Amino acid sequence: MRLAIYPGSFDPVTNGHIDILEKTTRIFDKIIVSVVHNVTKQALFTLEERVELIKESTKHLDNIEVESFNGLLANYIDEKKACAIIRGLRTVADFEYEAGMATMNKILIPKVDTIFVMADTKYIYLSSSGVKEAALLGGDISLLVPPIVKAGLEEKLKDIKL
Ligand code: PNS
Repeated sequence: MRLAIYPGSFDPVTNGHIDILEKTTRIFDKIIVSVVHNVTKQALFTLEERVELIKESTKHLDNIEVESFNGLLANYIDEKKACAIIRGLRTVADFEYEAGMATMNKILIPKVDTIFVMADTKYIYLSSSGVKEAALLGGDISLLVPPIVKAGLEEKLKDIKL
């Protein structure tokens, strides 16, 4: 079985992430979306909330599991016996960071490759942090995130005073 891991912070999941999943679920037998605590970022949603938002947003895809993990991605991939890591690429600005991670993971777990999937052109400039900032400042994010995420953001941000 061709199992791939799609890791990320997903704080929160956006339509860009969903697009990558719609493309890659056609290629792999199963994909585990792994919500990771990125030590370099401060999250708005808890790991559990992020898992739940992805589950609710991917009900139309049947070969997906969603879970969270803490620790080294290479160890997690080995444990799951996955054959690939999926990462989305938007512009060339993503490349340096992604190439560094892919190289590091290749050293840590040589039998597994990172597969890069280009974001759809309409999501090229879409990021979780951009969505959070737009939502916080009262922007309409309906075209950028699934409805459940929009509602979750409104709930989270309603008590934040600017
Ligand atoms: O969505 P993000 O924040 O860009 O995802 C980055 C993530 C979570 C995939 C990366 O930070 C990661 O793999 N973290 C787990 C810890 C780890 O294995 N670090 C070494 C990566 S080379």
